[in-house]
Amino acid sequence: MPVAEIRGDAVGVSGKIVTPGPILLLGAPGAGKGTQAKILMAEWSIPQISTGDLLREMRKDPVRSATSLGKQIRQIMDAGQLVPNDLVQAMVLERLKLPDTVRGYVLDGFPRTLPQAEWLDEQLSAKPNTLPVIAVNVRVSYTNLLQRLTGRRNCPACGRIYNIYSHPPQKDAVCDVDGTALARRADDSESIACERLRTHEALTAPVVEHYRVRGRFAEVDGELPVEDVARSVMDAIARLRS
Ligand code: AP5
Repeated sequence: MPVAEIRGDAVGVSGKIVTPGPILLLGAPGAGKGTQAKILMAEWSIPQISTGDLLREMRKDPVRSATSLGKQIRQIMDAGQLVPNDLVQAMVLERLKLPDTVRGYVLDGFPRTLPQAEWLDEQLSAKPNTLPVIAVNVRVSYTNLLQRLTGRRNCPACGRIYNIYSHPPQKDAVCDVDGTALARRADDSESIACERLRTHEALTAPVVEHYRVRGRFAEVDGELPVEDVARSVMDAIARLRS
């Protein structure tokens, strides 16, 4: 890899972003963070780090989910609450050690509390030649969020995200790409979704402020079609990295 990229110069000689660095997608549950993360991953060949996905993988593992910690995590997630900071931080720390993060990564669902944001800044400032986190908030109204969450379906095989209202699969309840039966997340029932939205409301405002006061924050309209949201997100990233 060229030295300039390792040193974290975001923009290459072509004027295009070659090293996006850490990009944080902020937004309420259902705002479209996962949907946009997949577009950014494809654009820059960088990984998505989703603490929700990492926690759900842990829940699927029969050994880890049978421990008292595994049971505690299940209870917390099923109640629509946040799992303890130290636990998600430890997961992120491990994930950031993998070499695929060297040019950048999309953070989806982490940090979502002020202590997590401060912890991440400390971690990154201790690493030489690392770009700081830039945050893009995807804004969507409460009514739309609820419909998106309750209508969401995922492909357990390839991770593709559908919505029975706005983006249904071509054939009923199976993935367009690999034909796998689509699944509904356990926390997408209306009652848990409402609790997740309440938790988000209470805890995320200080995270937005953390990045805003540091000049590393932008906001986009998440109610537009997916491709238009993606264009706004990429424009915002280009501005914040220029
Ligand atoms: P997590 O998995 O992070 O869930 P979330 O933040 O609640 O976000 P979602 O994944 O539900 O929504 P999204 O914004 O990714 O939307 P998506 O793209 O799928 O967290 C789950 C749980 O894990 C938490 O409740 C907590 O317990 C725990 N946890 C995770 N991280 C933690 C942390 N850091 N600290 C502590 N606890 C943590 O889109 C949603 C739907 O909308 C889809 O159907 C999609 O097709 C549709 N859609 C997307 N974009 C559009 C559009 N532009 N127009 C129309 N429809 C759209």
